[in-house]
Amino acid sequence: MSAPPKTMRALVLSAYDGPAALEVVDKPVPVPGPGQVLVKVEAAPVNPSDLTFLRGRYGFTRPLPTVPGFEASGRVVAGSGGYARALQGRRVACGVQRQGDGAWAEYILVDARGACVPLLPGVTLEQGATLLINPFTALALVEQAQEGRHPAVVQTAAGSAVGKMIARLCARRRIGVINVVRRPEQAAELRAAGAEHVLCSGDADFGARLGERCKTLRATLAFDAVAGPLTGRLLEEMPPGSRVVVYGALSGEAPVVPPGPLIFERKRVEGFWLSDYLGTLSLPGLVRRAARVQRSLGGDLRAEVRARVGLGGGRRRHPGLRAGDERRQGAHYALGRARLDPSKVQASVPIGVQLRGLMSRKLPRAGPAPDWPPADQRRADGVSGPL
Ligand SMILES: NC(=O)c1ccc[n+]([C@@H]2O[C@H](COP(=O)([O-])OP(=O)(O)OC[C@H]3O[C@@H](n4cnc5c(N)ncnc54)[C@H](OP(=O)(O)O)[C@@H]3O)[C@@H](O)[C@H]2O)c1
Repeated sequence: MSAPPKTMRALVLSAYDGPAALEVVDKPVPVPGPGQVLVKVEAAPVNPSDLTFLRGRYGFTRPLPTVPGFEASGRVVAGSGGYARALQGRRVACGVQRQGDGAWAEYILVDARGACVPLLPGVTLEQGATLLINPFTALALVEQAQEGRHPAVVQTAAGSAVGKMIARLCARRRIGVINVVRRPEQAAELRAAGAEHVLCSGDADFGARLGERCKTLRATLAFDAVAGPLTGRLLEEMPPGSRVVVYGALSGEAPVVPPGPLIFERKRVEGFWLSDYLGTLSLPGLVRRAARVQRSLGGDLRAEVRARVGLGGGRRRHPGLRAGDERRQGAHYALGRARLDPSKVQASVPIGVQLRGLMSRKLPRAGPAPDWPPADQRRADGVSGPL
């Protein structure tokens, strides 16, 4: 394997002003420290959390300038330390740490023992790029429904990538789903895809219909990605003892919750953050779960790419990420290594994520089955048998 170059292109954020503050610049390729690997990035999605980060409204900020991007896929090209070296040459999905630069660059440094997961044969680098955030979130939320023995759940922003994953996972587990969307077109799309219960939050009778469905289906758990007044509306209409888990704030507003349901009906509102959830998993636990998720990437946990944009070159604004894009969610972009093909990108490019197709360049064939963690590490970590 040839040595990495000295410089690379990266999308750099110079102010917490949204996509307008992004520029393609040349940077030195970072050198792995102990326990770190250098990953040559093949694809990285643009998720709602990235857009929130660009505005400085995510759960944390980093000193500027910084490279955004919370997850990616690629190939490990260098590593420091025995364990990291064992990953050398592997195709991996990786989550980006809180400190340091993110994934919208040609190379990233990743903690080998953190969220760096070898891809199974047959999983494309495009699929692997969105392995860690949305599928893990959908799975973790649905497990809450399963463990709490909730016969049905309510979910908002049901037309989102996570929402569709939640709906498929629930269907397989025979958990009812009341899907709440904000547009009739989205409602029609979900119904056409087989969703039985779909409500539009803008309809005059929304509250009454939500209350009636919750009662009939005994929906006592809600996954809310919108927040604002909708959180309170869910709480009011759900049966006594219900719980609303807020895991996103697509409305850009804080949840508005009336006190009555909390005080008199034992209802609760709480949050979910994937980062906390991943922190509860051991390394073997993460690897096992990642393998399970990968097997469903073509099925229940599939994502769609709405557009693909290249990283571009030269010191200039990124052509695919423009001011105002973050107002248009639902279009997950993959920043691939292919150059931007304007015919594939809509005029005002939305940069949510909706993985639908991907890079126009041919993806490398999947490599051999990963032996990861290496056998000695598996023993040390208590992992036995095939992952
Ligand atoms: N807490 C965590 O750890 C965690 C992890 C992963 C994801 N998330 C959250 O999960 C949510 C979904 O992510 P995703 O990647 O699946 O999103 P996505 O595919 O980009 O889809 C976003 C969806 O939200 C809808 N939407 C946007 N603004 C809305 C509003 N104000 N009211 C109602 N609906 C609205 C969009 O509908 P239109 O088509 O009408 O625009 C679209 O269907 C996001 O909030 C994300 O931050 C949280």
